[in-house]
Amino acid sequence: MTERKPLISGNWKMHHNHFQAIQMVQSLSYQLNNDDYSYCDVSVHPPFTDLRSIQTVLESDNIPISLGAQHCHEQEKGAFTGEVSTGMLEKLNVKLVIVGHSERREIFNETDSQVNAKIKAIFKHGMTPILCVGETIDERDAGDAETKIKNQLIEGLQGIGKDRVGKMVIAYEPIWAIGTGATATPADAQEMCAHVRNCILEISGKSPSESIRIQYGGSVKPVNIADLMMQNDIDGALVGGAALEAESFARLVQYRLQ
Ligand code: PGA
Repeated sequence: MTERKPLISGNWKMHHNHFQAIQMVQSLSYQLNNDDYSYCDVSVHPPFTDLRSIQTVLESDNIPISLGAQHCHEQEKGAFTGEVSTGMLEKLNVKLVIVGHSERREIFNETDSQVNAKIKAIFKHGMTPILCVGETIDERDAGDAETKIKNQLIEGLQGIGKDRVGKMVIAYEPIWAIGTGATATPADAQEMCAHVRNCILEISGKSPSESIRIQYGGSVKPVNIADLMMQNDIDGALVGGAALEAESFARLVQYRLQ
């Protein structure tokens, strides 16, 4: 069985200007300083305007946290006002890029084929995609959650080699749980993450299905993270609200020490 190192990621969405972000990361690093948290990887995903500042802080203070982005454009360069390419992110030492977050899909109408193109662009520049999938409450109530997720995975991963798929991160994020305080129960989250792994087995084969890391996201908090992380198919968490403050983020990372 492949050993999968858990990944705890903080998605700051449109919060924290670069001054606040610097302060937050310094405070997070201070709070984690005396703890051994080498059992997991940690990433922060600030807004674009903070990336350069956070890169400098992480590198100059040797903080073992990976820099992440929340979004990218699929083209290398061109007349795409307001967009940022994966080549630009790579130059900032960004390691992980969130793609297909439900807010991007719902508010900005991102399609599965754009998501697919973005994943290819992220790999082209040596970074790791965190592909988000998840169902709405209506889809869940109608019994369509599994099918929705399977389709998002099939379309999102089209034409991506199995070695690459095995290195990816999938974030299963039920849309009804994002920012609502209504977390999926550990058993429900496990069932859906196992479904994701099963889909990867069908799409790309055994080895990628065993090595791919699957995060759960949706109202993860310091009080519920440990139970979620104990589940067999949950290899990490993608966290919004509870990752905004240093103390709370530190407690998420320390889920094994509580
Ligand atoms: P939340 O957000 O933790 O605030 O629910 C999660 C996400 O959107 O990734």
